[in-house]
Amino acid sequence: METIENKVVLTADRPTGCLHLGHYVGSLRNRIKLQDNYRCFIMIADVQALSDNFDNPEKVRANVTEVAKDYLSVGISPEKCTLFIQSLIPELFELTVYFMNLISVSRLERNPTVKAELQQKSFSDSIPAGFLAYPVSQTADITAFKSQLIPVGEDQLPLIEIANEIVRRFNRIYNTNILLEAEAMVGKVGRLVGIDGRAKASKSLNNAIFMSDPSDILKQKIYSMYTDPNHVKVSDPGKVEGNVVFAYLDAFYEDKSELEELKSKYQKGGLGDMALKSLLNDTLQALLMPIREKRAEISDNAVIDILMDGSARARKVAKQTLAEVRDAIGLLKCGTDF
Ligand code: TRP
Repeated sequence: METIENKVVLTADRPTGCLHLGHYVGSLRNRIKLQDNYRCFIMIADVQALSDNFDNPEKVRANVTEVAKDYLSVGISPEKCTLFIQSLIPELFELTVYFMNLISVSRLERNPTVKAELQQKSFSDSIPAGFLAYPVSQTADITAFKSQLIPVGEDQLPLIEIANEIVRRFNRIYNTNILLEAEAMVGKVGRLVGIDGRAKASKSLNNAIFMSDPSDILKQKIYSMYTDPNHVKVSDPGKVEGNVVFAYLDAFYEDKSELEELKSKYQKGGLGDMALKSLLNDTLQALLMPIREKRAEISDNAVIDILMDGSARARKVAKQTLAEVRDAIGLLKCGTDF
């Protein structure tokens, strides 16, 4: 039997849409493995999602259950992990306020992740303070559960750095060691390209395949994938680099040696896009069919029960950390019935 490691793992998603194959490759697949060996907390970051969707809370609310269904249908188990909703853990926001004192506005403005996000969004000159400060709130997420391992994409590395700076500062200023630094676990698989060939598959670019896509939509998306515009006839030599169908086969086709053969055949000429797309369609239909079926069996009520139960368990842990934090700062202790 494999040993359970002591370290706590925390992962989270902003509930702004259903999860797609990019999430599957980049994180869901990994979480399914991690849940067997670590104590895992998986958070639906609805409060963080509000930082750039504050005017659309309905969208965030609706996607909390959709994302939870995505988790459960791919095999994330509520028996193995604590699945919870950020907004149900008010302790996180008290922690955020204490941490806010330990970082400067200019340090937050220099954060490359936030900078990149600001460029994509249309806040123009009026950046909400809450958006600029979401990395501080994320520090509260990480520290509240004493998580030391954070599986994230590369884009999140600057946020872990900020979290660790705040942790060191907190421990130094309040002369304690209660907060733990965290380590990012960056997946080896790169990000999945969009079906249009753009560097990133995302809901907002409308170029992603969702875990919950019905089979006809999946097929339609695969057959519309960008390949090599100069590969007109089957006998023409084709390009593998930049070819979306190959990028997806790389991510999902198990028989790698056969895939290499297909690539060389395609490059020489003699392998058509249709045959290739049909292979990818078979591969992804086989992957997503059981996921789709499982999703259909999960009722909204069952999801809510799981999230409420997980949130209650998560809250106990966060409460304990908050008590330690208040004590370290030297705030008045409140009674248990307060
Ligand atoms: N920022 C993360 C994302 O956009 C979500 C997130 C919120 C998170 N809190 C976290 C990730 C804590 C890791 C740890 O995907």
